Amino acid sequence: CGIIGVTVSPQCQQRNAVPLLLEGLKRLEYRGYDSAGVALIMCSNSSCDVKVYKAKGKVDEVIERFSLREKYSLTCLGHTRWATHGPPSDTNAHPHVDCRGYIAVVHNGIIKNYAMLKQVLSEHGHRFRSETDTEVVAHLLEEFLREGLGMLEAMRKLLEVLEGSFALAVLYSGTPNRVYFARRESPLYAAVGDCISAVSSDIPSLLHISRLVVPIEDDEYGYVEPGHLSLYDRRGEPVDWRRRAKIVTWSIEEASKGGYPHYMLKEIFEQPRALYETLIGLIEDPALEEAAELLVNARRVFVTGAGTSYHATLVFKHYITGMAGIVPIDFIASEHPEYMAAVSHEDVLIAVSQSGETTDTLQAVREAKKRGVKIIAVTNVIGSTLSRLADVTLYTRAGPEIGVAATKTFLTQVLTLQLLAARVACKLGVIDKSDFESIVEKLSSAREAARSAERLNPHIKALAVILSKAQSMFVLGRLLGAHLAREAALKIKEISYVHAEAYPAGESKHGPIALVEEGFPVIFVGTPGVEKKLYSNMEEMKARGAKVIVVGVDSYEDAPADYKVLVGSYDETLAPYAIMPPLQLLAYHMAVMLGYDPDKPRNLAKTVTVE
Ligand code: G6P
Repeated sequence: CGIIGVTVSPQCQQRNAVPLLLEGLKRLEYRGYDSAGVALIMCSNSSCDVKVYKAKGKVDEVIERFSLREKYSLTCLGHTRWATHGPPSDTNAHPHVDCRGYIAVVHNGIIKNYAMLKQVLSEHGHRFRSETDTEVVAHLLEEFLREGLGMLEAMRKLLEVLEGSFALAVLYSGTPNRVYFARRESPLYAAVGDCISAVSSDIPSLLHISRLVVPIEDDEYGYVEPGHLSLYDRRGEPVDWRRRAKIVTWSIEEASKGGYPHYMLKEIFEQPRALYETLIGLIEDPALEEAAELLVNARRVFVTGAGTSYHATLVFKHYITGMAGIVPIDFIASEHPEYMAAVSHEDVLIAVSQSGETTDTLQAVREAKKRGVKIIAVTNVIGSTLSRLADVTLYTRAGPEIGVAATKTFLTQVLTLQLLAARVACKLGVIDKSDFESIVEKLSSAREAARSAERLNPHIKALAVILSKAQSMFVLGRLLGAHLAREAALKIKEISYVHAEAYPAGESKHGPIALVEEGFPVIFVGTPGVEKKLYSNMEEMKARGAKVIVVGVDSYEDAPADYKVLVGSYDETLAPYAIMPPLQLLAYHMAVMLGYDPDKPRNLAKTVTVE
């Protein structure tokens, strides 16, 4: 989601904040586009009111529907939604208001403890209109004001009470020239001009307001007034933001990629947050239990997907076989006819698709459904066709992915499926509740693991210089590593156009090794537990003159490789999150070095809606 709040002074040349708000909101649309809304403070001589206009649909549709370009307000908020709790609808669209309609809230992130808060607030007489986690914030603030706190103090108290991730912007009719804000985990920036100020989820949506931009840090809160920012830390101490302020010289185009030259790079670096949000979203979600229930009662489990999503199903197969003793039958979505004669109403099909719109995957699902098969969907898009066809849907919360080559959606799919495998193992009694909880706990470190990309970037760039000169290469691994190798080879092929072929390392000697000659690159994906065997495969390759590269966990320190990229010390549970980002980066840098645009590879589409 994207949030924005703008406030202007009546003395300002620009005497209406609404056009500025709408321009910012349009630029935030890439962060979500299923619904949008604004809240405007409208004052008469005697009082000020908060007016909310919101609906399902794109920003332009919502602007048209309510004739927002004709509205006037000095202080206003906007939101463009990418649904996480509650499907896209007029009621679930932001802003959300308190019972009396004095407070309006927009939010990006996930409030982890919203169900508990909602219950407590309901017991205190609060009535909720939406299914969102955000609405609790408006009611909480109302409750704090009722207890006698001022609005600023109430914002501070939010930081104590809320769990999860949030960037919040808040209007209150009692202080009509202020936009309050608070932040934890989700991005938030303030911009301060002469007689105008704003807060927003990103920098590009602020540049038409002011180029003096202040990043808000975790657990900070405060408010903006025209030409003024008041910022506090979690203890309520004022923060000297001037030292942190920056004059942004980026063009708007540069800034919408977060300062990165390409969306793909930005999305690779976004993985820590995407993983964290996916995990906290899932542990709250009853769909996880429902999906596990379907699986433990299934006669057989099938898994399908296309492209990268298919690779996520292979990783799932690895985990659920090891954890729960269930061996799913995987198939590439377009190959579904071969399997349809074998399925029955006692079976379950897990269909994985980031967009939820890939025709091959939808067809496999429709055919399976005709035969009574129960469907579990794993998708990144709430309300997508796949989610509507499915009996149960598990959502990844990666945020919109713009680069054609999937990166953050892959690892969030892997995490979702890994958690599902653990839930199934728990229901079957293979592991107990405390084992399950320790897996969840461990998965919360996936975000640290995925930071490998930041640390290893220079190293990977150097490796890309060597590999971008190759015509062809192998990417080899064993077990879990063999599946990750397939995804790494796909990334290299699709954006750098260098031929990369993945193989289970043990199988490489049954044919592929014939291609190896002096200088032929072979990348080994070093997952834990298969070091010795991979070392033998490395030696075999080296003996034929191959240039051997290993991208793996620290236990590959002694690998007989020419080039080693060690991602840290991780076990099987966390290895994919640490190993994949550097491999995605490798593909990225190769593409850039070869002069290609990694965001828009030739002949490929983000979502393939043809057979
Ligand atoms: C296209 C994209 C791939 C993606 C595949 C499946 O081929 O280029 O990056 O993995 O579709 O997409 P889905 O939305 O179903 O995950």
